[in-house]
Amino acid sequence: MTKPASAAPAIAAPCPSLFSDSGSLAQNLVEAYLTVRNETERRAAPLSPEDQQIQSMTDASPAKWHRAHTTWFFEQFLLGEHCEGYEPFHPDYAFLFNSYYVSAGPRHARHQRGLLTRPGADDITAYRRHVDAAVVKFFHEAGEDALRAIAPLVETGLNHEQQHQELMLTDILHAFAQNPIPPAYDPAWRFPPSARSGDETRAGDQWATLNEGIHTVGHTDDSFHFDNEKPAHRALVGPVRLARNLVTNAEWLAFMEDGGYATATLWLMDGFATVEKEEWQAPGHWRQVDGEWKIMTLAGLQPIDPSAPVCHVSYYEADAFARWRGRHLPTEMEWEVAARAGQLNDAFGIVWQWTRSAYSPYPGYRAIEGALGEYNGKFMVNQLVLRGSSLATPAGHSRISYRNFFYPHHRWQFTGLRLADYAT
Ligand SMILES: [Fe+2]
Repeated sequence: MTKPASAAPAIAAPCPSLFSDSGSLAQNLVEAYLTVRNETERRAAPLSPEDQQIQSMTDASPAKWHRAHTTWFFEQFLLGEHCEGYEPFHPDYAFLFNSYYVSAGPRHARHQRGLLTRPGADDITAYRRHVDAAVVKFFHEAGEDALRAIAPLVETGLNHEQQHQELMLTDILHAFAQNPIPPAYDPAWRFPPSARSGDETRAGDQWATLNEGIHTVGHTDDSFHFDNEKPAHRALVGPVRLARNLVTNAEWLAFMEDGGYATATLWLMDGFATVEKEEWQAPGHWRQVDGEWKIMTLAGLQPIDPSAPVCHVSYYEADAFARWRGRHLPTEMEWEVAARAGQLNDAFGIVWQWTRSAYSPYPGYRAIEGALGEYNGKFMVNQLVLRGSSLATPAGHSRISYRNFFYPHHRWQFTGLRLADYAT
């Protein structure tokens, strides 16, 4: 995914749909399904069977597992429940590739996913082909009413697979970053240009002022969304100023050189405990080589670009940096209101942006019925919301109302920040 280098606000289409308006529903389903499924395989193509096997930490999963789990999702929830007579590809795969759906049955331990040398990568390719053939056949043979009934489930499955496409890249990057001989996922990969490309000073600081007001936030129509984006509701926002631009590596280096990682008073208590325990001295994937900081990227180890947005920082680090600058992080509502007004540069496509909003249900939230009710609702504690999207987010998967969430110590995703300040 690349972005134009202009400083214009980057606002993704607010209501992307995987389904086109032309053609029959069956044709549209087939096309959308195969497009997303092929993108997964395109992202896996540079990886050897050994690469696909590795699980470098509990939070990350092997690429082979991502390919299989996204396939299980369609086998379990679409074919298993709606396609009469469907025979599962293998009787053990539901146990191996169920992630966290308690209502879908027992499952393999998450931290042991990397121990599965069998089934191999070729077996997973065969699994994907089997399920794809059955799904496409089902789309062609089911009647219009049946297709209409299962279309929302298919769209959820495709959006689910797109989320795993992003994780495939972040997880293999974390694995490669542990390798003393840093491999490149794609030697031709480049960090996307941003509004401040080439600007190494703080002169780029610009602020978007939000006056106090009541705004509608959340997903407002019936186009695809996850349940955590609804109900849309009114929220009091402001007065506040949000930085139009993302914090850069040059700014982060200044924080480091000023002793930021060693100054306990800048940090939340849990944050500084994590700094000490993990011996953090720099963002994730940074390495000092002959006294110079470098960063592990999808193109291998690269020099730090001072004007590029800082990446692979945790909530704890983002919060400490903001305090060092005498600012703070925006709330998710402030982010959304500013983004809807076109006030934010690089809102999408570079780094997810930490907010200081706890990931909790919106007023009136109800998880959807059935097993898919486990998709979001049961994670609504102890995590922080991130907004926007990243360089690894598949095209068409971003929305202004999208709520990503991670624990405050997590930093293997493409995560950065923009600052907020109280308006006076
Ligand atoms: Fe999943």
